[in-house]
Amino acid sequence: MPTQSVDGITINYLLTGSGPLTLCLVHGSGGSTLAWVRQLEGLADAARVVALDLPGHGDSAGEGSRSIDDYVSVVKAFVQAMRLGRVVLGGHSMGGAIAQATALAHPDLLSGLILVGTGARLRVLPRILELIASNYAEGCAFVNAYAFSPAASEALKEGAKAAILRTRPQVTHGDFTACNAFDVMDRVGNIRLPALVICGRDDRLTPPKYARFLAQRIPGARLVLVDKAGHYVQLEQPEIVNAEIREFLETLTSTLSAGGSPSEPIIRLLA
Ligand code: COA
Repeated sequence: MPTQSVDGITINYLLTGSGPLTLCLVHGSGGSTLAWVRQLEGLADAARVVALDLPGHGDSAGEGSRSIDDYVSVVKAFVQAMRLGRVVLGGHSMGGAIAQATALAHPDLLSGLILVGTGARLRVLPRILELIASNYAEGCAFVNAYAFSPAASEALKEGAKAAILRTRPQVTHGDFTACNAFDVMDRVGNIRLPALVICGRDDRLTPPKYARFLAQRIPGARLVLVDKAGHYVQLEQPEIVNAEIREFLETLTSTLSAGGSPSEPIIRLLA
């Protein structure tokens, strides 16, 4: 697996595809690049697709954090160290919080935003925080029980549970703590980037209400609610999610090649 040293930490990443746009994908709490495996394979013909393991996750070295802003610093340093140029930043769940915070703090790094199963505020059920701290296996099972649509296969659910169990308990607990403190509800409307918001209609961890809020507040954002999908919508319904991302990237590409800049004019065209 390729790695990149970021502020002295070895960060693992996966890279597929090529093209004028780079899609950089950030996983959620206790997650890894596995969260994006279907996009890495399914969108390789549409863009350069890069997914990273945050510190302490997947095959990356280092420790996790209890702060979204710390993870924003990692993503910023990763994009710069990899010389990716402006990226379309995609985030799932906690990764979506990181993407929103990056868009607010460092808009010049981005040409677009893809927010998947996330929200502008991510309060966490106290029971999740308690269980993750006291009985990790039970905590992971509890989260998993909320994470999927009834339509999801047992294999997918078991795979996701095995993946989060590979992350150290304190790292996952730090992630949920970071989510619990995240709240940009009064600022997310300041984002001025083309944005795609995707949520499973059966998502009980970050319900469609959160996605509607994002799409209403971010000017020009496109909202996609996906049937038969829960919190892991990008794994549960990858064909639908990839088709939406592909269309979003195509619109961005054609606008940029027509001489637009990734700001207000594109937002008007996408609206
Ligand atoms: N977007 C839009 N609305 C939001 C929101 C978001 N991101 N986050 C909260 N709200 C709304 C809620 O729907 C609620 O609206 P209401 O008063 O009309 O019902 C209000 O803001 C307050 O909600 P919240 O801040 O979440 O506090 P709470 O005490 O009502 O609920 C929880 C706390 C933990 C029970 C609740 O947030 C929840 O069920 N979270 C989802 C489960 C979870 O743990 N997810 C993990 C996320 S990483």
